[in-house]
Amino acid sequence: MPSINFKGKALVQNFHLLVPYHELKPVKSKSLTSKVSLHDNLVVHGDNLQALKSLLPYYHGKVKCIYVDPPYNTGNEGWVYNDNVSSPMIQEWLGKVVDREDLTRHDKWLCMMMPRLRLLRDLLNDEGIIGISIDENEFSNLITLCDEIFGENNLFGVIVVRNNPRGRRLGTEFAVEHEYLVVYARARERFTAGRLPLTDEQLQEYSEVGAGGRRYRLLGLRKRGALSRREDRPNLYYPLYAHPKTGKVYLENDKNLVKILPRLSDGADGVWRWSKSKVRDENEKLIAKEVRRRGSGDKELDIFELDYAEDEVGEVVTRLFPSIWQGSEFNNETGRDQIKELFDGKSVFDNPKPVDLIKHFLLLGGGQDGIVLDPTAGSGTTAQAVLELNNSDSGARRFVLIEQEAYADSITAERVRRVINTLPNANPKLGRSFSVVEVGHPMRLETLLKADKLPSFEDLASYIFYTATGEDFEAQRINRKTYFIGESAQFDVYLMYEPDLDYLKSTALTLDIARRLPKGSGKKRLVFAPTKYLDSIHLDEYRIEFCQLPFEIYKAVKRTA
Ligand SMILES: C[S@@+](CC[C@H](N)C(=O)[O-])C[C@H]1O[C@@H](n2cnc3c(N)ncnc32)[C@H](O)[C@@H]1O
Repeated sequence: MPSINFKGKALVQNFHLLVPYHELKPVKSKSLTSKVSLHDNLVVHGDNLQALKSLLPYYHGKVKCIYVDPPYNTGNEGWVYNDNVSSPMIQEWLGKVVDREDLTRHDKWLCMMMPRLRLLRDLLNDEGIIGISIDENEFSNLITLCDEIFGENNLFGVIVVRNNPRGRRLGTEFAVEHEYLVVYARARERFTAGRLPLTDEQLQEYSEVGAGGRRYRLLGLRKRGALSRREDRPNLYYPLYAHPKTGKVYLENDKNLVKILPRLSDGADGVWRWSKSKVRDENEKLIAKEVRRRGSGDKELDIFELDYAEDEVGEVVTRLFPSIWQGSEFNNETGRDQIKELFDGKSVFDNPKPVDLIKHFLLLGGGQDGIVLDPTAGSGTTAQAVLELNNSDSGARRFVLIEQEAYADSITAERVRRVINTLPNANPKLGRSFSVVEVGHPMRLETLLKADKLPSFEDLASYIFYTATGEDFEAQRINRKTYFIGESAQFDVYLMYEPDLDYLKSTALTLDIARRLPKGSGKKRLVFAPTKYLDSIHLDEYRIEFCQLPFEIYKAVKRTA
């Protein structure tokens, strides 16, 4: 398989593994919920490489659809390479705007994309897809990079999006009217693409009504167009027989039947579209009807397929997604108008995508639930698409947006607030809440161990609870006597800890303590303690998952001893 080469590749190849986990700090004041949680709709403020890495413990293999709208590297976006890779060459790149004259601009872009795409792949579930918007500046690089990361067999398709019908010159002799949406599946064989309903125009073709009120249209059984001559497909040239009154079609002759051969309009031998076995198996869908022969005007029998608009249970037949997405709903201008409408007529964001582009992508992704991740959220169009789709099809999709700029609150989160306000209350699954978290310091326990002091019980409880469950910590729920520090959606959490060296040296989770733990909610118990004297049979019996207190505590203990 061809692979891509670029300056810095060796340095960023495994950089995603070196990126430290960072704190994801709940910001209650900017959230729209009483309980900030990483399992809510989410707006993450911070660099997406750090954010993706930090979300990994909670979202690994769980995301259904990822939509990415990265810098296109046009040379005039003010894009800056900013990953702190430890190499003199890359350190040289930091903080400098990448313009068209920059001879390493493609290398920088690829160095930025590679570790992010690797993390995004880890986040996808087996049935998931990723769609990346791009234009001709990095199109070919993106495809080769994604082939390497996702596997070329997992390329689901390249969609041409006609986003600018007026055309841009872009230094070419074309008026460029389109860009691309490149779609890869996590595992092509596990992905089932969504389908679209027939258009009104297509439905109008189904003008006949059959048994049970099902609409249908008649499609000639004779093949038209390319490869329609007898010599092209000799096995599809065979006679069929029809009853002139009932219109029933047979493979075998009978004395009252009329023989019908596939004839081209020029009188030459043609072919049928169906094999003999299909004619036998789906015979009830065929009918012979009288038509006028071209030229002479004489009447003759021809054979048609009854093509239904609804299946037996009344569901309207669907169609595949087309490979060109066009219409005013996909125009850049529509995207700009949609955000203006939400922000009192003001243009608060330069290049928002049209909401329907993302809705269409989510429908292609299939299903009505699942997590939708957008690591380059910008104005938050993806959240609007998720909320509006949930509203229209009673879906339960959830969004996770990441944005690094200061407008993560004033535009990204604000758009979500405004969209939620416009939607009716009717659908309980809609998810009218969202949590805001900020990417904080790298998650090293040393940051808690200020000045070589052991952390207080509350500080450690908060760190441990949030890190282990991804849910907001509520200090008032602590019960020091029973070790209880909080309840998450999955666990009751306990912490055996005191900021005291002798206590840490002498404390262990024992059978006696396990027996005395409160009954709690009946969920599994996460018990953090310096050590345990308990075998796995008893741990199971008392629904305990034991977590040894982080090693860094002991390093601090040694320093303070
Ligand atoms: C082209 S815009 C996305 C627009 C978005 N699709 C919309 O409809 O509003 C790209 C966004 O990605 C953000 N971005 C770029 N690099 C990022 C990074 N390393 N971490 C987080 N956000 C980033 C930019 O700040 C910008 O808002």
